[in-house]
This record gives sequence, structure tokens and C-alpha cells, in this order.
Amino acid sequence: MTGQKISRVGVVGAGQMGAGIAEVCARADVDVLVYESTRELAAEGRTRVLRSLDRGVSSGKLTEREREQASCRLRFTSDLGDFADRELVCEAVVEDEVVKTEIFTALDKVVTDPGAVLASNTSSIPIMKLGMATQNAARVIGMHFFNPVPVLPLVELVTTLMTTPEITARAEAFAHDILGKQVVRSADRSGFVVNALLVPYLLSSIRMVESGFATVEDIDKAMVFGCAHPMGPLKLSDLVGLDTVKAIADKMYEEFKEPLYSPPPLLLRMVEAGRLGKKAGRGFYRYEQNGSGR
Ligand code: 3HC
Repeated sequence: MTGQKISRVGVVGAGQMGAGIAEVCARADVDVLVYESTRELAAEGRTRVLRSLDRGVSSGKLTEREREQASCRLRFTSDLGDFADRELVCEAVVEDEVVKTEIFTALDKVVTDPGAVLASNTSSIPIMKLGMATQNAARVIGMHFFNPVPVLPLVELVTTLMTTPEITARAEAFAHDILGKQVVRSADRSGFVVNALLVPYLLSSIRMVESGFATVEDIDKAMVFGCAHPMGPLKLSDLVGLDTVKAIADKMYEEFKEPLYSPPPLLLRMVEAGRLGKKAGRGFYRYEQNGSGR
């Protein structure tokens, strides 16, 4: 039912974004089922969430009891068929249009309640493309979270020409009232609000490194101490993942043909070399096992 409070959520993908979304849902007293394609990836996803909950306890944000309660609300599966009773599903897999459209086609068949929300955490793929992969684009919406999801309070809500006001209101109430997030609305164009501003900035910083204009460390230092950003653009690119930065830039360039969105060669070479940032142990910086930068 459209007006009912959402208490059963599905998350597709347990990478850094999916695990973060699953964690904030579990912490908000919601029953969470997380899908990963294999049992091994599901186990890695569970470890990722439990590690973050532990971090919450050690930093005093969560009690031991709250951590236990949150972990009890989390289940993992490698069968998308288990999502039939979900009232909201948030897809958070790799930023690849083919993979995402296949997931939306499959979800549409499994989740039969027409009032259920089918959301995507995509950063750059127009939501309409995902909606048109289903039989009912009216219930498809963008819910774009920010990394690290347990820390950053924003959700961009992206409605298409087809999304109904009821689905939009339901998704907004979930993000704001249940998860406690700040919500901004965006029209359905690649990059939405945040990445339309952020991605040209990240790419410009990579072009600065490429041209030898300034060092990685000095560019980051400049933005941290000169503009009070919590981290500089190169460390932030590492955090987001250089493959993800490239995928977002490619999609935005495809949509607007704007040279500022075009990924610079240095970014392409780093992705080809597997230097994908923090998750790979090396990007513009080197990372220890525990994720701290050099
Ligand atoms: N999970 C849970 N909590 C985390 C966390 C994580 N992954 N990472 C950090 N935290 C918490 C810490 O526990 C700590 O909490 P406390 O202050 O209560 O002790 C707090 O965040 C600060 O963490 P640290 O002291 O370890 O480190 P920093 O002070 O350097 O902060 C940061 C780390 C939160 C990542 C901060 O540097 C930051 O906010 N950076 C900017 C991140 C950003 O801009 N993200 C948006 C990326 S764009 C995006 O996601 C969209 C996509 O489409 C590209």
C-alpha cells in the first residue's frame, strides 16, 4: 500500500554504497534484505557492514545493544526472488547501465506490489532508462546517497516524467522521516545536482596533476586549508573510486557533450592500471589494510 510506512527494504549490491545504505536502514529499525550475486560477495558485504557498526560503537555513536539490534535486522541472499515482500528496494550495484537495467527488469517481475518503490542509487544514469526497463516506470525513482552513507546526511531524490507523486512522497518520507536524511529534489538529468557540480571539480584536479601544475598533496592541502573542505579532490576521488569517477564522467559526457565532463587521460590510465583508489589500496595515494592514507 502506497501510504503505509516502509518497514521492509531490499538493497541490491553490498559494495561500499550498498553496505552503507543497508547499515543506515538497519540502524533505523528497518528489516533489511541485501542481495549479492554470490555467497562469497554476500559474506564480504556482511563483514563490511559489521565492521562499520563496530566503528560506530568504538566512536561512541552506537551502544553494543544497538549494534546487536541492527545486525539482527540484516539478512543477506544471493536470490533476487527473495525480494517479493519488499516495500522499497534500493539498487546500488556498479555504475553500469546494462547491469542496472537487467536488475530493474528482474526486480519488476519479483516485486509485484504496484505501491512498492523501486529506487536506484545511480550517480549519473538517467532514471528514465531504468524505469523503461520495467513494465511500471511509475514506481521507479532515484535515491542517491553519499559516501560514507552513515556519515553524509544527503539523499538526492530524482523523479522522472513517469514517477507518480505517491511514489515520490513515499520515497521522500522514507529517506527523511525514517532514515533521518536531508532530501533535495532533482530533475532526471545525468549527474543530478551534486555530481553536476562535483565531477568537473574532481576532473579539473586530475588535469592539474596531469599537467604538472601542482602535486597531489599540494592540491589537496590547498582545498582543505584554503576552503575548509574535509578532504581534497584527489583523496575524495580515491574515496569515491576512480572507476566510479570515470563511469560518472562518461555518462555525463554522453548526455551533455561538455568537455569539462570528459575523463582526462591520467584518469583512464589509472583505471586501466587497477589503481582504483582506497578500495584497491592504491589510487592517488597508497592505503594500508585499514584504509588510512599515506
Ligand atoms: N562509516 C561510518 N562512519 C564513518 C566512516 C564510514 N565509512 N568514515 C568515517 N566515519 C565517521 C567516523 O567514525 C568519525 O565519526 P566521529 O567524528 O563521531 O568520531 C567521522 O566520520 C570522521 O571520521 P574520521 O575521523 O575517521 O576521518 P575524517 O575526519 O577524515 O572524516 C570523512 C572522514 C567522513 C570521509 C570526511 O573526510 C568527509 O566527509 N569527506 C568528504 C566525503 C564526501 O564528500 N563524500 C561525497 C562523495 S560524492 C558521492 O558519494 C556521490 C557519488 O555519486 C560519487
